Order: sequence, then C-alpha cells, then structure tokens
Amino acid sequence: SQTPVIAIDGPTASGKGTVAQKVAQRLGFHYLDSGALYRLTALSALRRNTALDDEHALAKVASRLNCHFDSGHIFLSEEDVSEAIRAENVGNVASKIAALMPVRQALYGLQLGFHRAPGLVADGRDMGSVIFPHAVLKVFLTASVAARAQRRYKQLIDKGISANMQDLTNDLSERDARDTHRSSAPLKAVEGAYLLDTSALTAEQAVEQILGWYALVK
Ligand code: C5P
Repeated sequence: SQTPVIAIDGPTASGKGTVAQKVAQRLGFHYLDSGALYRLTALSALRRNTALDDEHALAKVASRLNCHFDSGHIFLSEEDVSEAIRAENVGNVASKIAALMPVRQALYGLQLGFHRAPGLVADGRDMGSVIFPHAVLKVFLTASVAARAQRRYKQLIDKGISANMQDLTNDLSERDARDTHRSSAPLKAVEGAYLLDTSALTAEQAVEQILGWYALVK
C-alpha cells in the first residue's frame, strides 16, 4: 500500500518508545508500540497462570488479547494496564515468551492492523525486518548500556520506585543477549536501516534527525 510506515527498532531502553511516539505526533501518524503487545501477552499469561513454557497456550493467550490503545493509555479488556505492563517482571516474561515463534505469529495480524492512513510509526525489535519489511524508513536506535541503564534508573526514581544501577545494567545486558541471540526474529539492524546512537542525544534531537531522514525518503 501507499500508506507510509516508519519502522524504529532497537534494544530495551534505547528511547525508542518516546522517540517513536513523538515522531508519530509530529507527522499526525498512528503509533504502534509492538513491545506493549508482548507485555500484554505476558501480563495476561501471568494472571491466568498459563505455564510459561507452553508455547501453544501462550499463543492462544496472544491471539485472544482483548486490548485497545487510547490516547497513550493501554487497556486489557476494560482495565487500564499502562503502568502494570511496565513492571520489570512483566518485561522479563515478555522477553522470554517473545522468543517463541507461535507467540510471534499470533501477534502478527494484530500488528498489521495498525497500518492505516495517513501513516504509521512502529517501534519494536522486528518492525523493519519482519512485520513491515516495506517501511519507507527504517531506523535502528541504539545507546550504550550505561546510557540506557541511566535512563531507566531515572524513570524508576521519578516514579518513586527504588532502583539499583548494577541490577539494571545486568538486567539490560541479559535482555539484550536474549533478544539478539534468539532464532526467531532476532534484534538486528536490517540492510538499509539508518543507525542512530542516542547515547548523547536528547529525545528531541533524535526526533529531528528521524524527521530529517523521513523528509529525504518520503
Ligand atoms: O520494547 P519493550 O521493552 O516494551 O518490549 C518487551 C519485550 O518484547 C522485549 O524485551 C522483546 O523481547 C519483545 N519484543 C519483541 N519484538 C518486538 C517488540 C518487543 O520481541 N517487536
């Protein structure tokens, strides 16, 4: 279709979410937070006590997700779970179940449904490689583990949640390793992706860079 997609992929806490959301806002495009779908599946599985090694049961949970997104809030059935899905343990379970192909397949169609006029900004791990291979612009956002741990630390402290830099750093490294080395849709920059290291950039600077690239390719 002619409706443009901007794919923004990258590791945990690279700033993708904030940056992608702002790019979507500036362009008046829809926004897909694909990580939220894995987090919603994880939260739903945890609540139903689904065995976390039963890939078919997990795929069923994923295919039956009753979720909707409304002005920055995320709902599971009618409950606002925007905060609940950000919990560290939900993120860890999300990253584990995201390695299962049946789960990824179950979420495929749901993700395509976000591709609507006038355009879409999609963020995740495999937006440019698997879900939207025809994206007009593919961006791979990175930042050093130290910069990402620092950002995560600040987010948690701002929310009044206690945090430890060493634990956060270990956790990020572990999740990076899992996302990068899994056989199904591993995290990697696809050919043609524009690399953006945000370690020393503000979100606004990253947004301007991406809008500049988009203006060149659209
Ligand atoms: O981006 P976020 O941290 O919210 O994603 C949670 C987890 O979901 C990630 O650790 C990753 O394993 C998984 N994920 C994925 N593919 C995507 C988006 C997220 O495998 N497109």
